[in-house]
Amino acid sequence: MDLSTALHSQAMAQQIMQWCDQLAQISAKPNGIHRFYLTPEHKACNQQVAKWMEQAGMTAFEDAAGNLVGRLTSAVPNAKTLMIGSHLDTIPNAGRYDGILGVLLPIAAIRQLNSLGIELPYHIDVLGFGDEEGIRFGSTLLGSRAVAGTWQSDWWQLEDTNGVTMAEAFESFGLEPDSIGKAAYLPQQLIGYLEVHIEQGPVLEQQQLAVGIVSAIAGARRFQIHFEGFAGHAGTVPMTMRQDALVAAAEAICQIEAMAKTAGIVATVGHIECRPNAVNVIPGSVRFSLDIRSVDDHQRDSTLDSIEQQLDEICAKRNLKWHWHSIHDAAAVHCAPWLMEQQQQTLEALEQEPLCLMSGAGHDAMALAEITDIAMYFVRCKGGISHHPDESITKEDVVVALDTLRTALVQFSQQERFSQVL
Ligand code: HGY
Ligand code: MN
Ligand code: MN
Repeated sequence: MDLSTALHSQAMAQQIMQWCDQLAQISAKPNGIHRFYLTPEHKACNQQVAKWMEQAGMTAFEDAAGNLVGRLTSAVPNAKTLMIGSHLDTIPNAGRYDGILGVLLPIAAIRQLNSLGIELPYHIDVLGFGDEEGIRFGSTLLGSRAVAGTWQSDWWQLEDTNGVTMAEAFESFGLEPDSIGKAAYLPQQLIGYLEVHIEQGPVLEQQQLAVGIVSAIAGARRFQIHFEGFAGHAGTVPMTMRQDALVAAAEAICQIEAMAKTAGIVATVGHIECRPNAVNVIPGSVRFSLDIRSVDDHQRDSTLDSIEQQLDEICAKRNLKWHWHSIHDAAAVHCAPWLMEQQQQTLEALEQEPLCLMSGAGHDAMALAEITDIAMYFVRCKGGISHHPDESITKEDVVVALDTLRTALVQFSQQERFSQVL
């Protein structure tokens, strides 16, 4: 590979690390990375990444859902498109590689291909999705679902913590809710969807591998749960006469943990709101989230049935009312065997061991699986730490990931499926 020094993978990997550091500065708060859907920070991030896409020889634009699209157009008329993407939004106080790496890496790989004068018989669209984490409005995979054409009309009424609806947020971002359909791709346009993402788990580090192949992504469901008791005076209401919503929630949360352990799945209560939230008042109302996942949807859903029963019992015993509603439901998805085979060949060609592993974390690939075949590469991250400011990767692993992606894109062009025309 005779790339000029500046574009050599070592230098490009360094550039990617610097780009990640630069995007980490685009945040709603001075300390930590906080970048949510349809906010000024989202806009600033799109503008910055669009510049890097254009420098790499792509055209860049925002789609009707606020996702950023970088387009590399093949010289082959009516070629099909390989979509490569990940997300540019973050959780609160995030790490700097979750999602971000998967948008920047293909931009660097395309910059290298262009400088080598390598023409591909297929188009590439690099997508920077605007909302994978689902922090601002609660529901997740919003950007990728718009691209998959599975946007839900009841999402327009979703509100953020300031009472701003999705529709209002669209308008202030410069988008028209009525045009959301324009973000959708037709299945026949796409060859497939490929995502590169940090593993967010310990397996690659344990196996001393820089890159791995994803076999499947666990299905995830999310709920908002509301316990309604009765607020009261902390000094005068006897313990036996209380309808304390927070104690009931605490008992429920411990039971949820125990049931998940027994079922061998994962369940998390990550968000809780207690009202009136005063030191001398018995909590009358508590709302908390539930995120529950498994690669086996049946196991997950039967555990949910047991959780529902348990919460019924707790609330009956404590004379509380309760209800819950689903805010997210994504089935487990499996990566396409024909793409995994190709990924395996690429890693073997680079003398990398082609380890396959499943993903406990959700990804935009789950949304795209509705309309096309999907594949993912994982990149090792230190201690498997993620959703935390200490998230970290090495430049050396980025070199391996960059060489893997660029080699895969060239090898794809020898595959009949990638030379199909519309
Ligand atoms: O929650 C997840 O699994 C992903 O990081 N959004
Ligand atoms: Mn994440
Ligand atoms: Mn992610």
